[in-house]
Amino acid sequence: MGDILRKARLSTQPADVLAFTSSIDVDEWIFEADITVDRAHLVMLTEEGIIAGDVCSLILSALDTIQDGGIAELPPEEDVHAAIESKLISRVSEDIGGRMHTGRSRNDEVATCIRLKLRDELLRMMRELASLREVLIAHAKMHTETLMPGYTHTQHAQPTTLAHHLLAHAGALGRDYARLADAYVRTNISPLGAAAFAGTGFQVNRARTCELLGFDGVIENSMDAVSARDFMIESASAFANLMTNLSRIAAEMILWSSSEFDFITIDDRYASTSSIMPQKKNPDVAELIRGKMGSTVAALVGILTITKALPQSYNRDLQEATPHLWSAATCTLASVRMTAGMIDTMTVHEENLARQATTGFAMATELADALVRRCGIPFRTAHQIVGMLARMDAAPSLETIDEISLSMTGRRLSDSGLDEQAISDALDPVSGIRAHVSGGPAPDDVVRVINIFENTLQKDLIALDARCKHVNDATGMLDREVQACKHVR
Ligand code: ARG
Repeated sequence: MGDILRKARLSTQPADVLAFTSSIDVDEWIFEADITVDRAHLVMLTEEGIIAGDVCSLILSALDTIQDGGIAELPPEEDVHAAIESKLISRVSEDIGGRMHTGRSRNDEVATCIRLKLRDELLRMMRELASLREVLIAHAKMHTETLMPGYTHTQHAQPTTLAHHLLAHAGALGRDYARLADAYVRTNISPLGAAAFAGTGFQVNRARTCELLGFDGVIENSMDAVSARDFMIESASAFANLMTNLSRIAAEMILWSSSEFDFITIDDRYASTSSIMPQKKNPDVAELIRGKMGSTVAALVGILTITKALPQSYNRDLQEATPHLWSAATCTLASVRMTAGMIDTMTVHEENLARQATTGFAMATELADALVRRCGIPFRTAHQIVGMLARMDAAPSLETIDEISLSMTGRRLSDSGLDEQAISDALDPVSGIRAHVSGGPAPDDVVRVINIFENTLQKDLIALDARCKHVNDATGMLDREVQACKHVR
Protein backbone atom coordinates (compact mmCIF):
# COMPACT_ATOMS: atom_id res chain seq x y z
CA MET A 1 0.00 0.00 0.00
CA GLY A 2 1.50 3.25 -1.12
CA ASP A 3 4.83 1.59 -1.28
CA ILE A 4 6.27 0.97 -4.73
CA LEU A 5 8.60 3.92 -4.37
CA ARG A 6 9.27 3.69 -0.65
CA LYS A 7 9.46 0.04 0.23
CA ALA A 8 13.25 -0.29 0.03
CA ARG A 9 14.17 3.16 1.28
CA LEU A 10 11.53 4.17 3.81
CA SER A 11 9.14 2.56 6.22
CA THR A 12 5.45 2.45 5.39
CA GLN A 13 3.58 5.72 5.68
CA PRO A 14 0.56 5.84 7.99
CA ALA A 15 -2.73 6.44 6.20
CA ASP A 16 -3.19 9.99 7.48
CA VAL A 17 0.26 11.04 6.27
CA LEU A 18 -0.30 9.38 2.92
CA ALA A 19 -3.63 11.17 2.63
CA PHE A 20 -1.89 14.48 3.42
CA THR A 21 0.82 13.84 0.85
CA SER A 22 -1.24 12.38 -1.92
CA SER A 23 -2.54 14.31 -4.92
CA ILE A 24 -4.59 11.39 -6.18
CA ASP A 25 -7.99 13.12 -5.86
CA VAL A 26 -6.98 16.04 -7.99
CA ASP A 27 -4.93 13.83 -10.30
CA GLU A 28 -8.18 12.69 -11.85
CA TRP A 29 -7.65 15.70 -14.09
CA ILE A 30 -4.46 14.26 -15.51
CA PHE A 31 -5.25 10.54 -15.44
CA GLU A 32 -5.85 10.28 -19.21
CA ALA A 33 -2.95 12.61 -19.94
CA ASP A 34 -0.67 10.40 -17.86
CA ILE A 35 -1.57 7.30 -19.85
CA THR A 36 -0.93 9.25 -23.06
CA VAL A 37 2.46 10.42 -21.79
CA ASP A 38 3.30 6.84 -20.77
CA ARG A 39 2.48 5.62 -24.27
CA ALA A 40 4.59 8.24 -26.03
CA HIS A 41 7.49 7.60 -23.67
CA LEU A 42 7.26 3.83 -24.25
CA VAL A 43 7.13 4.17 -28.04
CA MET A 44 10.20 6.40 -27.90
CA LEU A 45 12.10 4.11 -25.50
CA THR A 46 11.48 1.20 -27.89
CA GLU A 47 12.46 3.13 -30.99
CA GLU A 48 15.69 4.16 -29.30
CA GLY A 49 16.43 0.59 -28.26
CA ILE A 50 16.26 1.49 -24.55
CA ILE A 51 13.59 -1.12 -23.84
CA ALA A 52 12.77 -4.23 -25.87
CA GLY A 53 9.82 -4.38 -28.23
CA ASP A 54 8.16 -7.29 -26.44
CA VAL A 55 8.38 -5.46 -23.11
CA CYS A 56 6.83 -2.36 -24.65
CA SER A 57 4.06 -4.44 -26.16
CA LEU A 58 3.14 -6.06 -22.84
CA ILE A 59 3.17 -2.72 -21.02
CA LEU A 60 1.04 -1.02 -23.66
CA SER A 61 -1.59 -3.74 -23.46
CA ALA A 62 -1.68 -3.53 -19.67
CA LEU A 63 -2.04 0.26 -19.90
CA ASP A 64 -5.21 -0.23 -21.96
CA THR A 65 -6.74 -2.23 -19.12
CA ILE A 66 -5.56 0.28 -16.53
CA GLN A 67 -7.11 3.09 -18.57
CA ASP A 68 -10.43 1.22 -18.78
CA GLY A 69 -10.46 0.77 -15.00
CA GLY A 70 -10.04 4.50 -14.48
CA ILE A 71 -8.44 6.25 -11.55
CA ALA A 72 -10.85 4.66 -9.05
CA GLU A 73 -9.26 1.26 -9.55
CA LEU A 74 -5.71 2.40 -8.90
CA PRO A 75 -3.97 1.28 -5.70
CA PRO A 76 -3.28 3.92 -3.03
CA GLU A 77 0.00 5.65 -3.87
CA GLU A 78 1.07 9.22 -3.39
CA ASP A 79 0.01 10.24 -6.86
CA VAL A 80 -1.43 9.03 -10.14
CA HIS A 81 2.01 8.45 -11.63
CA ALA A 82 3.12 6.08 -8.89
CA ALA A 83 -0.32 4.47 -8.77
CA ILE A 84 -0.36 3.66 -12.49
CA GLU A 85 3.14 2.23 -12.28
CA SER A 86 2.19 0.23 -9.21
CA LYS A 87 -0.86 -1.21 -10.91
CA LEU A 88 1.18 -1.96 -14.01
CA ILE A 89 3.75 -3.86 -11.99
CA SER A 90 1.08 -5.83 -10.21
CA ARG A 91 -0.34 -6.85 -13.59
CA VAL A 92 2.76 -7.62 -15.64
CA SER A 93 5.52 -8.08 -12.99
CA GLU A 94 8.29 -5.74 -12.04
CA ASP A 95 10.56 -7.32 -14.61
CA ILE A 96 8.31 -5.90 -17.34
CA GLY A 97 6.38 -2.99 -15.79
CA GLY A 98 9.37 -1.78 -13.81
CA ARG A 99 11.00 -0.68 -17.09
CA MET A 100 8.39 1.96 -18.00
CA HIS A 101 9.94 4.67 -15.84
CA THR A 102 13.38 4.35 -17.48
CA GLY A 103 14.87 7.76 -18.31
CA ARG A 104 12.00 9.61 -16.69
CA SER A 105 11.00 11.16 -13.39
CA ARG A 106 7.61 12.08 -12.02
CA ASN A 107 8.89 15.63 -12.22
CA ASP A 108 9.00 15.81 -16.01
CA GLU A 109 6.01 13.47 -16.14
CA VAL A 110 3.68 15.66 -14.09
CA ALA A 111 4.76 18.84 -15.86
CA THR A 112 4.03 17.14 -19.20
CA CYS A 113 0.63 15.91 -18.01
CA ILE A 114 -0.42 19.35 -16.75
CA ARG A 115 0.59 20.96 -20.01
CA LEU A 116 -1.30 18.37 -22.07
CA LYS A 117 -4.45 18.78 -20.01
CA LEU A 118 -4.23 22.55 -19.88
CA ARG A 119 -3.74 22.62 -23.63
CA ASP A 120 -7.08 20.83 -24.04
CA GLU A 121 -8.73 23.18 -21.59
CA LEU A 122 -7.40 26.20 -23.48
CA LEU A 123 -8.64 24.82 -26.79
CA ARG A 124 -12.10 24.19 -25.32
CA MET A 125 -12.10 27.60 -23.70
CA MET A 126 -11.21 29.32 -26.97
CA ARG A 127 -13.98 27.43 -28.77
CA GLU A 128 -16.56 28.51 -26.17
CA LEU A 129 -15.30 32.06 -26.08
CA ALA A 130 -15.50 32.26 -29.88
CA SER A 131 -19.17 31.23 -29.57
CA LEU A 132 -19.80 33.92 -26.99
CA ARG A 133 -18.21 36.52 -29.24
CA GLU A 134 -20.41 35.24 -32.05
CA VAL A 135 -23.53 35.61 -29.88
CA LEU A 136 -22.61 39.18 -28.97
CA ILE A 137 -22.01 40.07 -32.60
CA ALA A 138 -25.27 38.42 -33.70
CA HIS A 139 -27.25 40.39 -31.13
CA ALA A 140 -25.41 43.57 -32.00
CA LYS A 141 -26.59 43.06 -35.58
CA MET A 142 -30.20 42.93 -34.37
CA HIS A 143 -29.89 46.09 -32.32
CA THR A 144 -28.00 48.66 -34.38
CA GLU A 145 -31.03 50.98 -34.12
CA THR A 146 -32.07 50.11 -30.56
CA LEU A 147 -31.60 53.29 -28.54
CA MET A 148 -30.56 53.02 -24.94
CA PRO A 149 -29.00 55.23 -22.30
CA GLY A 150 -25.23 55.14 -22.12
CA TYR A 151 -23.65 55.56 -18.71
CA THR A 152 -20.58 56.88 -17.00
CA HIS A 153 -20.43 56.55 -13.22
CA THR A 154 -23.73 54.62 -13.54
CA GLN A 155 -25.36 57.98 -14.32
CA HIS A 156 -27.11 58.71 -17.61
CA ALA A 157 -24.45 60.19 -19.86
CA GLN A 158 -25.27 60.09 -23.58
CA PRO A 159 -27.63 57.97 -25.63
CA THR A 160 -26.15 55.00 -27.40
CA THR A 161 -27.45 51.80 -28.97
CA LEU A 162 -27.62 48.31 -27.61
CA ALA A 163 -25.42 47.18 -30.51
CA HIS A 164 -22.74 49.66 -29.51
CA HIS A 165 -22.91 48.49 -25.92
CA LEU A 166 -22.74 44.78 -26.81
CA LEU A 167 -19.79 45.40 -29.11
CA ALA A 168 -17.89 47.00 -26.23
CA HIS A 169 -18.05 43.63 -24.49
CA ALA A 170 -17.21 41.81 -27.72
CA GLY A 171 -14.08 43.95 -28.07
CA ALA A 172 -12.91 43.10 -24.56
CA LEU A 173 -13.63 39.41 -25.06
CA GLY A 174 -11.67 39.49 -28.33
CA ARG A 175 -8.64 40.56 -26.30
CA ASP A 176 -9.33 37.83 -23.76
CA TYR A 177 -9.35 35.38 -26.62
CA ALA A 178 -5.98 36.66 -27.81
CA ARG A 179 -4.61 36.23 -24.29
CA LEU A 180 -5.74 32.59 -24.24
CA ALA A 181 -4.23 31.99 -27.67
CA ASP A 182 -0.99 33.49 -26.41
CA ALA A 183 -0.99 31.42 -23.25
CA TYR A 184 -1.37 28.34 -25.45
CA VAL A 185 1.96 29.10 -27.15
CA ARG A 186 3.85 28.89 -23.86
CA THR A 187 1.79 25.95 -22.61
CA ASN A 188 2.16 23.62 -25.55
CA ILE A 189 5.87 22.87 -25.15
CA SER A 190 7.31 19.63 -23.88
CA PRO A 191 9.21 19.12 -20.62
CA LEU A 192 9.49 15.36 -21.22
CA GLY A 193 13.04 14.02 -21.16
CA ALA A 194 14.10 16.49 -18.47
CA ALA A 195 13.75 13.65 -15.92
CA ALA A 196 14.21 14.78 -12.31
CA PHE A 197 15.80 18.07 -13.46
CA ALA A 198 19.21 17.17 -14.86
CA GLY A 199 18.15 15.27 -17.93
CA THR A 200 19.13 11.61 -18.22
CA GLY A 201 22.05 9.54 -19.44
CA PHE A 202 19.64 7.38 -21.44
CA GLN A 203 19.55 8.55 -25.03
CA VAL A 204 15.94 9.68 -24.88
CA ASN A 205 14.61 11.36 -28.00
CA ARG A 206 12.90 14.49 -26.75
CA ALA A 207 11.93 15.64 -30.23
CA ARG A 208 10.13 12.37 -30.82
CA THR A 209 7.99 12.46 -27.65
CA CYS A 210 7.33 16.12 -28.41
CA GLU A 211 6.02 15.13 -31.84
CA LEU A 212 4.00 12.16 -30.60
CA LEU A 213 2.30 14.33 -27.99
CA GLY A 214 1.48 17.18 -30.39
CA PHE A 215 3.66 19.72 -28.62
CA ASP A 216 5.06 22.58 -30.66
CA GLY A 217 8.58 22.37 -29.23
CA VAL A 218 10.65 21.23 -26.26
CA ILE A 219 11.68 23.20 -23.19
CA GLU A 220 15.42 23.29 -23.72
CA ASN A 221 16.73 23.58 -20.16
CA SER A 222 15.82 20.50 -18.15
CA MET A 223 15.80 22.33 -14.80
CA ASP A 224 13.41 24.95 -16.19
CA ALA A 225 11.33 22.17 -17.77
CA VAL A 226 10.44 20.52 -14.46
CA SER A 227 10.17 23.58 -12.26
CA ALA A 228 8.44 26.17 -14.44
CA ARG A 229 4.83 26.91 -13.59
CA ASP A 230 4.71 30.35 -15.20
CA PHE A 231 2.57 28.80 -17.92
CA MET A 232 -0.03 28.10 -15.24
CA ILE A 233 0.18 31.64 -13.92
CA GLU A 234 -0.27 32.95 -17.45
CA SER A 235 -3.36 30.85 -18.16
CA ALA A 236 -4.88 31.52 -14.74
CA SER A 237 -4.27 35.19 -15.29
CA ALA A 238 -5.94 35.05 -18.72
CA PHE A 239 -8.85 33.25 -17.02
CA ALA A 240 -9.02 35.91 -14.30
CA ASN A 241 -8.98 38.69 -16.88
CA LEU A 242 -11.72 36.97 -18.86
CA MET A 243 -13.76 36.44 -15.70
CA THR A 244 -13.40 40.13 -14.86
CA ASN A 245 -14.95 40.96 -18.19
CA LEU A 246 -17.69 38.36 -17.73
CA SER A 247 -18.43 39.72 -14.26
CA ARG A 248 -19.05 43.13 -15.83
CA ILE A 249 -21.58 41.62 -18.22
CA ALA A 250 -23.15 39.67 -15.35
CA ALA A 251 -23.39 42.77 -13.17
CA GLU A 252 -25.12 44.66 -15.96
CA MET A 253 -27.58 41.87 -16.55
CA ILE A 254 -28.39 41.84 -12.84
CA LEU A 255 -29.01 45.60 -12.87
CA TRP A 256 -30.80 45.61 -16.19
CA SER A 257 -33.23 42.90 -15.13
CA SER A 258 -34.21 44.77 -11.94
CA SER A 259 -37.58 46.50 -11.92
CA GLU A 260 -35.79 49.84 -11.53
CA PHE A 261 -34.05 49.39 -14.88
CA ASP A 262 -36.36 46.94 -16.63
CA PHE A 263 -34.16 46.85 -19.75
CA ILE A 264 -34.19 43.08 -20.19
CA THR A 265 -35.82 39.90 -18.97
CA ILE A 266 -33.45 37.07 -18.28
CA ASP A 267 -34.76 33.74 -19.52
CA ASP A 268 -36.29 31.55 -16.82
CA ARG A 269 -33.64 28.88 -17.21
CA TYR A 270 -31.01 31.29 -15.89
CA ALA A 271 -33.13 32.43 -12.94
CA SER A 272 -34.11 31.01 -9.57
CA THR A 273 -36.93 31.84 -7.24
CA SER A 274 -37.18 32.33 -3.50
CA SER A 275 -38.13 29.72 -0.94
CA ILE A 276 -40.32 32.26 0.83
CA MET A 277 -41.18 35.11 -1.56
CA PRO A 278 -43.32 33.53 -4.25
CA GLN A 279 -43.04 36.42 -6.68
CA LYS A 280 -39.24 36.38 -6.89
CA LYS A 281 -37.26 35.81 -10.07
CA ASN A 282 -33.60 36.11 -9.17
CA PRO A 283 -30.67 36.36 -11.60
CA ASP A 284 -28.70 33.61 -9.81
CA VAL A 285 -26.63 32.49 -12.78
CA ALA A 286 -25.36 36.02 -13.38
CA GLU A 287 -24.66 36.41 -9.66
CA LEU A 288 -22.69 33.17 -9.63
CA ILE A 289 -20.62 34.32 -12.58
CA ARG A 290 -19.86 37.48 -10.63
CA GLY A 291 -18.98 35.33 -7.60
CA LYS A 292 -16.88 32.83 -9.57
CA MET A 293 -14.81 35.73 -10.79
CA GLY A 294 -13.62 35.98 -7.18
CA SER A 295 -12.85 32.26 -7.06
CA THR A 296 -10.84 32.55 -10.27
CA VAL A 297 -8.79 35.42 -8.94
CA ALA A 298 -8.27 33.45 -5.72
CA ALA A 299 -6.92 30.58 -7.81
CA LEU A 300 -4.51 32.89 -9.61
CA VAL A 301 -3.29 34.32 -6.31
CA GLY A 302 -2.98 30.75 -5.01
CA ILE A 303 -0.69 29.74 -7.87
CA LEU A 304 1.35 32.93 -7.59
CA THR A 305 1.92 32.67 -3.87
CA ILE A 306 2.63 28.93 -3.89
CA THR A 307 5.26 29.28 -6.61
CA LYS A 308 6.81 32.48 -5.30
CA ALA A 309 10.43 32.20 -4.18
CA LEU A 310 10.67 28.45 -4.74
CA PRO A 311 14.30 27.54 -5.22
CA GLN A 312 15.15 25.46 -8.29
CA SER A 313 14.10 22.95 -9.24
CA TYR A 314 11.14 20.68 -8.40
CA ASN A 315 9.59 21.21 -4.96
CA ARG A 316 6.58 19.37 -3.68
CA ASP A 317 4.88 22.72 -3.08
CA LEU A 318 4.15 22.66 -6.80
CA GLN A 319 1.58 19.92 -6.26
CA GLU A 320 -0.42 22.38 -4.19
CA ALA A 321 -0.61 24.88 -7.07
CA THR A 322 -2.12 22.56 -9.67
CA PRO A 323 -5.67 22.23 -8.24
CA HIS A 324 -6.04 26.01 -8.42
CA LEU A 325 -5.47 25.84 -12.15
CA TRP A 326 -8.26 23.31 -12.63
CA SER A 327 -10.58 25.27 -10.39
CA ALA A 328 -9.96 28.46 -12.38
CA ALA A 329 -10.45 26.62 -15.67
CA THR A 330 -13.71 25.07 -14.45
CA CYS A 331 -15.18 28.36 -13.23
CA THR A 332 -14.18 30.17 -16.39
CA LEU A 333 -15.33 27.65 -18.96
CA ALA A 334 -18.74 27.30 -17.32
CA SER A 335 -19.12 31.06 -16.98
CA VAL A 336 -18.33 31.65 -20.65
CA ARG A 337 -20.99 29.12 -21.61
CA MET A 338 -23.59 30.55 -19.21
CA THR A 339 -22.96 34.10 -20.39
CA ALA A 340 -23.46 33.12 -24.03
CA GLY A 341 -26.72 31.36 -23.17
CA MET A 342 -28.02 34.23 -21.06
CA ILE A 343 -27.37 36.81 -23.74
CA ASP A 344 -28.75 34.62 -26.48
CA THR A 345 -32.04 34.04 -24.66
CA MET A 346 -32.66 37.42 -22.98
CA THR A 347 -35.68 39.52 -23.95
CA VAL A 348 -34.83 43.14 -24.69
CA HIS A 349 -37.37 45.81 -23.69
CA GLU A 350 -36.71 48.12 -26.59
CA GLU A 351 -39.42 50.67 -25.79
CA ASN A 352 -38.22 51.21 -22.27
CA LEU A 353 -34.62 51.43 -23.42
CA ALA A 354 -35.59 54.10 -25.96
CA ARG A 355 -37.62 56.00 -23.39
CA GLN A 356 -34.75 55.97 -20.95
CA ALA A 357 -32.23 56.93 -23.63
CA THR A 358 -32.88 60.65 -23.34
CA THR A 359 -33.78 61.01 -19.68
CA GLY A 360 -31.42 62.83 -17.34
CA PHE A 361 -30.68 65.50 -19.98
CA ALA A 362 -28.61 62.93 -21.87
CA MET A 363 -28.57 65.18 -24.96
CA ALA A 364 -26.67 67.92 -23.10
CA THR A 365 -23.37 67.18 -24.81
CA GLU A 366 -25.07 67.26 -28.22
CA LEU A 367 -26.59 70.63 -27.36
CA ALA A 368 -23.23 72.04 -26.27
CA ASP A 369 -21.66 70.72 -29.49
CA ALA A 370 -24.47 72.38 -31.50
CA LEU A 371 -23.75 75.73 -29.83
CA VAL A 372 -20.10 75.40 -30.82
CA ARG A 373 -20.89 74.48 -34.43
CA ARG A 374 -23.70 76.96 -34.86
CA CYS A 375 -22.36 80.01 -33.01
CA GLY A 376 -18.59 79.48 -33.16
CA ILE A 377 -18.18 79.84 -29.39
CA PRO A 378 -15.49 77.86 -27.51
CA PHE A 379 -16.58 74.43 -26.31
CA ARG A 380 -15.82 75.39 -22.68
CA THR A 381 -18.26 78.31 -22.94
CA ALA A 382 -20.94 76.09 -24.47
CA HIS A 383 -20.31 73.54 -21.71
CA GLN A 384 -20.92 76.22 -19.10
CA ILE A 385 -24.09 77.50 -20.73
CA VAL A 386 -25.59 74.03 -20.95
CA GLY A 387 -24.26 73.20 -17.48
CA MET A 388 -26.18 76.18 -16.11
CA LEU A 389 -29.31 74.99 -17.93
CA ALA A 390 -28.95 71.63 -16.21
CA ARG A 391 -28.37 73.28 -12.86
CA MET A 392 -31.52 75.38 -13.27
CA ASP A 393 -33.33 72.25 -14.43
CA ALA A 394 -34.79 74.48 -17.14
CA ALA A 395 -36.15 73.42 -20.52
CA PRO A 396 -33.57 74.19 -23.22
CA SER A 397 -35.54 76.95 -25.00
CA LEU A 398 -33.90 79.60 -27.15
CA GLU A 399 -35.03 82.24 -24.68
CA THR A 400 -33.42 80.57 -21.64
CA ILE A 401 -30.20 79.80 -23.50
CA ASP A 402 -30.02 83.44 -24.59
CA GLU A 403 -30.55 84.62 -21.03
CA ILE A 404 -27.79 82.40 -19.71
CA SER A 405 -25.37 83.34 -22.47
CA LEU A 406 -26.14 87.04 -22.03
CA SER A 407 -25.30 86.86 -18.35
CA MET A 408 -22.20 84.74 -18.95
CA THR A 409 -20.73 86.28 -22.10
CA GLY A 410 -22.63 89.54 -22.63
CA ARG A 411 -23.98 88.18 -25.93
CA ARG A 412 -27.14 86.40 -27.05
CA LEU A 413 -26.50 83.21 -29.04
CA SER A 414 -29.53 83.96 -31.21
CA ASP A 415 -27.42 86.85 -32.58
CA SER A 416 -24.83 84.30 -33.69
CA GLY A 417 -27.31 82.11 -35.57
CA LEU A 418 -28.89 79.92 -32.89
CA ASP A 419 -32.58 79.20 -33.48
CA GLU A 420 -35.26 76.87 -32.07
CA GLN A 421 -34.79 74.44 -34.96
CA ALA A 422 -31.06 74.03 -34.24
CA ILE A 423 -31.89 73.36 -30.59
CA SER A 424 -34.54 70.76 -31.29
CA ASP A 425 -32.26 69.09 -33.90
CA ALA A 426 -29.56 68.83 -31.26
CA LEU A 427 -31.98 67.23 -28.83
CA ASP A 428 -33.01 64.48 -31.26
CA PRO A 429 -31.22 61.31 -30.13
CA VAL A 430 -31.61 59.50 -33.43
CA SER A 431 -29.87 62.11 -35.53
CA GLY A 432 -27.38 62.69 -32.72
CA ILE A 433 -26.37 59.05 -32.74
CA ARG A 434 -26.05 59.02 -36.55
CA ALA A 435 -23.34 61.65 -36.24
CA HIS A 436 -21.27 59.59 -33.79
CA VAL A 437 -19.05 57.76 -36.23
CA SER A 438 -15.74 57.70 -34.35
CA GLY A 439 -16.18 54.13 -33.12
CA GLY A 440 -19.47 55.32 -31.70
CA PRO A 441 -23.07 54.20 -31.96
CA ALA A 442 -23.82 55.53 -35.48
CA PRO A 443 -25.41 52.47 -37.09
CA ASP A 444 -23.11 52.62 -40.15
CA ASP A 445 -20.08 52.78 -37.93
CA VAL A 446 -21.38 49.94 -35.79
CA VAL A 447 -21.77 47.84 -38.96
CA ARG A 448 -18.18 48.71 -39.89
CA VAL A 449 -16.98 47.50 -36.46
CA ILE A 450 -19.16 44.39 -36.69
CA ASN A 451 -17.39 43.52 -39.96
CA ILE A 452 -13.98 43.97 -38.37
CA PHE A 453 -14.94 41.84 -35.37
CA GLU A 454 -16.38 39.15 -37.63
CA ASN A 455 -13.17 39.04 -39.67
CA THR A 456 -11.04 38.74 -36.55
CA LEU A 457 -13.30 36.00 -35.24
CA GLN A 458 -13.03 34.12 -38.55
CA LYS A 459 -9.24 34.33 -38.45
CA ASP A 460 -9.22 33.21 -34.82
CA LEU A 461 -11.35 30.18 -35.69
CA ILE A 462 -9.10 29.21 -38.59
CA ALA A 463 -6.05 29.36 -36.30
CA LEU A 464 -7.94 27.40 -33.63
CA ASP A 465 -8.90 24.69 -36.14
CA ALA A 466 -5.25 24.44 -37.19
CA ARG A 467 -4.18 23.95 -33.57
CA CYS A 468 -6.85 21.32 -32.99
CA LYS A 469 -5.82 19.55 -36.16
CA HIS A 470 -2.18 19.49 -35.10
CA VAL A 471 -3.17 17.96 -31.77
CA ASN A 472 -5.55 15.45 -33.40
CA ASP A 473 -2.96 14.46 -36.00
CA ALA A 474 -0.47 13.78 -33.22
CA THR A 475 -3.06 11.72 -31.36
CA GLY A 476 -3.62 9.68 -34.53
CA MET A 477 0.13 9.23 -35.02
CA LEU A 478 0.62 8.10 -31.42
CA ASP A 479 -2.31 5.67 -31.74
CA ARG A 480 -0.79 4.13 -34.87
CA GLU A 481 2.65 3.80 -33.27
CA VAL A 482 1.11 2.25 -30.16
CA GLN A 483 -0.81 -0.29 -32.26
CA ALA A 484 2.37 -1.13 -34.21
CA CYS A 485 4.34 -1.58 -30.96
CA LYS A 486 1.64 -3.82 -29.52
CA HIS A 487 1.96 -6.18 -32.45
CA VAL A 488 5.69 -6.76 -32.04
CA ARG A 489 5.89 -9.80 -29.67
N1 ARG B 1 2.10 14.67 -7.48
C1 ARG B 1 3.29 15.38 -7.81
C2 ARG B 1 2.95 16.81 -8.25
O1 ARG B 1 1.84 17.08 -8.53
C3 ARG B 1 3.98 14.69 -8.93
C4 ARG B 1 5.48 14.87 -8.91
C5 ARG B 1 6.07 14.23 -7.72
N2 ARG B 1 7.48 14.38 -7.74
C6 ARG B 1 8.21 14.22 -6.63
N3 ARG B 1 9.49 14.40 -6.73
N4 ARG B 1 7.66 13.92 -5.48
O2 ARG B 1 3.79 17.66 -8.27
